[in-house]
Amino acid sequence: MLNVALPKGRLGEKVYDMFEKAGYECPSIREKNRKLLFTNEEKGICYFWVKPSDVAIYVERGAADIGVAGKDILLEYEPEVYELLDLDIGKCMMAVAAPNGYIDRPQRTLRVATKFERIAAGYYASIGRDIDIIHLNGSIELAPLLGLSDVIVDIVETGSTLKANNLSVVERIVDISARFIANKASYEFKKNEISRVTAALAGQLG
Ligand code: PRP
Repeated sequence: MLNVALPKGRLGEKVYDMFEKAGYECPSIREKNRKLLFTNEEKGICYFWVKPSDVAIYVERGAADIGVAGKDILLEYEPEVYELLDLDIGKCMMAVAAPNGYIDRPQRTLRVATKFERIAAGYYASIGRDIDIIHLNGSIELAPLLGLSDVIVDIVETGSTLKANNLSVVERIVDISARFIANKASYEFKKNEISRVTAALAGQLG
């Protein structure tokens, strides 16, 4: 049996569709109820939905053998997992954004609001800029509007959140997409099963 951690939400639906096309369907997952575990004994697969940012924890600790997590989460938390495939969905970017017309003053310590401390710190260290990180858990775009920070480091997908708040991208840090990941021990002990899933998912990529 393979335990699969799927990210809840829009991305998760797309991910499950890929597993279904790969031949690992589990019809009960489409039923509208509060169940959290969905098993197809015949296919040897058990799915469960978790918060997207928790997938890597389940996989790292072996509660899930495999799962799908955003590259943002993998870069930020550096979990001990194998990254097997770029699934080419959930595409967005990690970027620095600031109020429209923002002019940087390089001599000053930059105040950066973000959920992604490690990514932000790594980026600014790479360009030798001193920063003061303000860790927030959501609605990051509010910070520069209220003077809490100068800029933000956040995910930009369509750009509509930035646009609606008179912010714009100042710097692209890294492209993000969903990655198929595996627990390291599971990868050894369930190598055949995991390789089969990997190949079936890879077959759907352009
Ligand atoms: C994410 C991200 C941006 C927004 C970007 O927020 O933090 O706010 O999506 O998407 P867009 O470019 O298509 O507008 P999320 O909805 O996950 O909520 P959050 O504010 O809790 O981070």
